[in-house]
Amino acid sequence: MELKSHKFISFFEPEQASELCRIAIVEDLPDQTLIFDEGDPADFLYLVLAGQVEFRKRISPNHYQTLTKALPNGFFGELGILDGQPRSTQAIACQEATLAKIPGNGLMQILENTKGSVAIKLFSYMIQRLRDSTDEYVKQVVHKEKMVLLGEMLNTVIHDFKSPLSGINLASGMIQELHSDEETVEWCYLIQAQAHRMSAMAEEFLEFVRGNSVLNKQPINLAVVLQLFEKLNRVYFHEAQVEFVIQAADVVVNVDENKLLRVVQNLVGNAVEAFKGCGGRVELTAWVNESGVNIKIRDNGPGIPEAIKDRLFEAFVTYGKHSGTGLGTAIAKSIIDAHGGQISFESSCQEGTTFYINLPL
Ligand SMILES: Nc1ncnc2c1ncn2[C@@H]1O[C@H](COP(=O)(O)OP(=O)(O)O)[C@@H](O)[C@H]1O
Ligand SMILES: [Mg+2]
Repeated sequence: MELKSHKFISFFEPEQASELCRIAIVEDLPDQTLIFDEGDPADFLYLVLAGQVEFRKRISPNHYQTLTKALPNGFFGELGILDGQPRSTQAIACQEATLAKIPGNGLMQILENTKGSVAIKLFSYMIQRLRDSTDEYVKQVVHKEKMVLLGEMLNTVIHDFKSPLSGINLASGMIQELHSDEETVEWCYLIQAQAHRMSAMAEEFLEFVRGNSVLNKQPINLAVVLQLFEKLNRVYFHEAQVEFVIQAADVVVNVDENKLLRVVQNLVGNAVEAFKGCGGRVELTAWVNESGVNIKIRDNGPGIPEAIKDRLFEAFVTYGKHSGTGLGTAIAKSIIDAHGGQISFESSCQEGTTFYINLPL
């Protein structure tokens, strides 16, 4: 959009509006450009002309909480200009963005000479935005509280689930031994397969509830660990008619082995499930470069359904499965986050799905 038709400029009288346009500096920023960080001095007001800007607050050295976004026609950074305080959040271009920067001192001079009606328009807009972000914050806090309660509840329920489940397994094993005719064996097999499915779901819930904040990092050989993963899953791949190909660098890296295996298991498991028994191919490539450990998991399946693409990593987002918990990718992301890494994906119904993981060393 053009600077002169931006909402912020339209709050002003024509003369001041053109003065604002004159002192504004328009900049094109590539995706992921840091615009300002927490604690930086507040020296500019920013008007968004194109793209998006994300505001994040650091909650631990490698963890950020996204608070809100600014879209075209929006503006940000005015509070610091008005009260002289440093920036309270980090601002990052989360797409290629075009911003107009208005120097704080120039803006203050113009504001000093504006009519009261301009200030009122400006304030009511800013107050509305403060209200919106407070609402958003309260929503997030309530959501977090709910998740903690839900987690505690699940923990109890699932622990109580475990012993009847193993009882079912044991009993059907006994029946099978006592009555070894083909039909009984088949029914017992079915009981055990379903019980196994329930314990896998329970395990996924527990993994989620436990959280992934504590890492047990140790030196592991990437190739050895991933080959072992392949070996342990060979029968599973064979039954699902999946060709599983590994290319992993023979290098030692410092990561939490069990958690890394959980990530791989969840993502490869999803790929296998997406083939729905019709077979397919999954490729796992792992290598190390200056940016750390990289893992790519690629399948030639049907792609991630459009309906959940932008919420995939959220907990309880599942689609088209009878026994989906919607936690597999959420757990994977929380493990990668705990390592200070990144996870992303590309997916289409023609090309299948590829997950990209990067763990800094
Ligand atoms: N490789 C993939 N190909 C196609 N769809 C996928 C793939 N990975 C994940 N999905 C979709 O994403 C959803 C969420 O996955 P996940 O978080 O592991 O939960 P769950 O597997 O329990 O449903 C799945 O239900 C599935 O619809
Ligand atoms: Mg899954």
